[in-house]
Amino acid sequence: MSLRIGLLGATGLVGRTMLAVLEQRDFPADTPRLLASERPRDSTLPFRGRALPVEPVRPEAFRGLDLARFATSNPVSLSWADVARAAGATVIDNSSAFRYHY
Ligand SMILES: NC(=O)c1ccc[n+]([C@@H]2O[C@H](COP(=O)([O-])OP(=O)(O)OC[C@H]3O[C@@H](n4cnc5c(N)ncnc54)[C@H](OP(=O)(O)O)[C@@H]3O)[C@@H](O)[C@H]2O)c1
Repeated sequence: MSLRIGLLGATGLVGRTMLAVLEQRDFPADTPRLLASERPRDSTLPFRGRALPVEPVRPEAFRGLDLARFATSNPVSLSWADVARAAGATVIDNSSAFRYHY
């Protein structure tokens, strides 16, 4: 089974590390969808020998994902967690935004 994964905050310190770990561990994931802020960019990140584009985060970006990994600040995680869940993704957030929620 191969999971469809999105990585919000892919360009940050933690996001880049998460991407590297997915590759190093040979995690059973399709090509991850890399998401970051909406600031203009023309950037890619390396993954399994390919240069994957980094997309600005939008609600539609979470459609079709099994798993959304967040590596963002608390306010960004709070803004996008419900959006990602509504799109059908399971969210794993690396911030402390939801630390006392469950
Ligand atoms: N650094 C650590 O050692 C460490 C350890 C444990 C936990 N954490 C936690 O992990 C999280 C990420 O930390 P970090 O150090 O990786 O942060 P970071 O390097 O500042 O990266 C932040 C990421 O969030 C994105 N972002 C910023 N504003 C955004 C917005 N409005 N909408 C969508 N994406 C946005 C950035 O994209 P752009 O490139 O577009 O700005 C970037 O990809 C934080 O909650 C932090 O507390 C960090």
